[in-house]
Amino acid sequence: MIFYFSGTGNSRYVAEKTAETVQDEVVSMNALLKEGKAGTFISEKPYVFVLPVYAGRMPRVAEHCIEKMQLEGSSAVYFIMTCFETPYASEKYIRRLCGRKHLELSGFDYVCMPQSYIAMYDVPDHDQAVQIYRKALPKITEMAEKIRRQEKFDHQVNGGGMMSDVINPVFYQMAVSAKGFHTTDRCTGCGLCAERCPLNNIRLQDKVPQWGNSCTHCMACIDGCPAQAIEYKKATAGKSRNYNIAADL
Ligand SMILES: Cc1cc2nc3c(=O)[nH]c(=O)nc-3n(C[C@H](O)[C@H](O)[C@H](O)COP(=O)(O)O)c2cc1C
Ligand code: SF4
Ligand code: SF4
Repeated sequence: MIFYFSGTGNSRYVAEKTAETVQDEVVSMNALLKEGKAGTFISEKPYVFVLPVYAGRMPRVAEHCIEKMQLEGSSAVYFIMTCFETPYASEKYIRRLCGRKHLELSGFDYVCMPQSYIAMYDVPDHDQAVQIYRKALPKITEMAEKIRRQEKFDHQVNGGGMMSDVINPVFYQMAVSAKGFHTTDRCTGCGLCAERCPLNNIRLQDKVPQWGNSCTHCMACIDGCPAQAIEYKKATAGKSRNYNIAADL
């Protein structure tokens, strides 16, 4: 059983590609979070989690969701992170989570995908994003083949403690807030942003999106808006919106 949490579609793509090789089902943690339930799952095959890296760790909302899930059957688990450049010391926190849940970590690895953090960094344009997806495919397939054979990964990432241990908590306190999101006159009031927010943090008032206080900066709303009508403070004007690039491969 292959779970993913995904803001802009990168981790979802990796999960779906992995599932094709492993011949296993895919479960969206976005949907679980949206419904406010963690659930009980039974699988004889190893569990696989595909998650983006947020400031050097797995996203907090994903960690909390996994913490609450009942995972029965197999105790083996693989974690695949998608990131722009490096997962830093994510593995350390994943090992701790596995320890608390009595899961055996059979593999941890990562794959580089387009930068999704449009609110803070430059992001590739659409064509560049497509190229990054194509370049990532051999590694995704290689990891999926190992999972299919239930082989352990030998990869280990060292270092990155400063980002994961020190900056991560400060980042959540200081940077992760929906306060900077606003719409432009391009907004059609279609409601897709509210539908896509995994934390139900957007509601429409007279067809105008309003952001609440529960945001994890996944970037699904701003990147997924079909009218490109969402901006974040002054950081996002003119930047490319990359959402569900897999549809254009
Ligand atoms: C809040 C946030 C924090 C991020 N932090 C990191 C990071 O520490 N290292 C990194 O290489 N990429 C980082 N990224 C980039 C994402 O991990 C990467 O683009 C990922 O593939 C996004 O996957 P998704 O589309 O499934 O959400 C960050 C992105 C966001 C939105
Ligand atoms: S998805 Fe975009 S166009 Fe649709 S309601 Fe949200 S901001 Fe407006
Ligand atoms: S408000 Fe936007 S960025 Fe925040 S969690 Fe919802 S979809 Fe993600």
